[in-house]
Amino acid sequence: MDYGIKGQTVLIIGGARGIGYAAAELLAADGCNVALADINGEAAKASAHKLAASSGARTAGLKADVTDLEQVKAMMAAVEKDLGPLSVVVNCAAVLDDKLFADSGPADWKRMVDVCLYGPMNVIHAALPGMSARKYGRIICLASDSARIGQARLSYYAAAKAGVIALVKSVAQEAGKDGITLNVVSPGATNTELRQEREEGMRAQMGDEKYAKRVQTVLKMYPTRRIGEPVDIGAAIAFLASRNASWITGQVLSVNGGFVMP
Ligand SMILES: NC(=O)c1ccc[n+]([C@@H]2O[C@H](COP(=O)([O-])OP(=O)(O)OC[C@H]3O[C@@H](n4cnc5c(N)ncnc54)[C@H](O)[C@@H]3O)[C@@H](O)[C@H]2O)c1
Repeated sequence: MDYGIKGQTVLIIGGARGIGYAAAELLAADGCNVALADINGEAAKASAHKLAASSGARTAGLKADVTDLEQVKAMMAAVEKDLGPLSVVVNCAAVLDDKLFADSGPADWKRMVDVCLYGPMNVIHAALPGMSARKYGRIICLASDSARIGQARLSYYAAAKAGVIALVKSVAQEAGKDGITLNVVSPGATNTELRQEREEGMRAQMGDEKYAKRVQTVLKMYPTRRIGEPVDIGAAIAFLASRNASWITGQVLSVNGGFVMP
């Protein structure tokens, strides 16, 4: 697909695997330079090599912890030195817990808010000055449909993700005059390692028989009768990164097989 941004530089944070990597594949195939940053620096480098080999794109893999503004700024400066000015920044970095709120505590909340809310704040704050100066930019943050409708056992994750939605809408109002769009992609259940790790925990707790019933119950909640694949979400990210999306800003795009229709 022609996204109209050939030769431009895209940074995907939390891009070593999962949804971020799926978006990277689409944008690299279209001729973008793609940097993958992740707290797991080795995985980011390995994924960047794999992406360069499969697409022929210029890529870079870097270590950065999204919770640390200085690390995020230094990482962005290194990407720009290597691959050129950032046109598109996507934040996919996240952690997940599976706990009743009553069983959770301040350490759980802090870890979640640090990654899933301060993380996007750091990313947006670091990306804005360069994009404003160049009068062009696309920023895409990942939230979750749990932020739109609430979800048991994901309370503080959902709360942090709801914060991302408010953050993106608000900054979109400030940055539009500088040619910068900010949007949120809000996935439903998607078959990535993040989800697989949580599901394995549930299977271990519930036992195989109960877990098999849970899988069927979940599928019935999806009108399309399947959960998402990373490329389903990656395609929405790539569209919002494209030239064609220049008049879309401050929006939340649920990509969820019809799970929620807010
Ligand atoms: N998979 C789903 O079902 C689902 C559903 C709703 C929303 N989402 C959201 O989509 C996004 C991508 O999810 P995914 O399923 O691809 O997850 P994933 O775990 O496969 O990928 C997330 C990446 O973020 C990295 N990361 C974690 N903490 C980090 C930090 N502090 N700094 C930098 N990188 C860090 C991880 O190492 C990992 O490579 C996340 O924001 C997630 O909340 C996923």
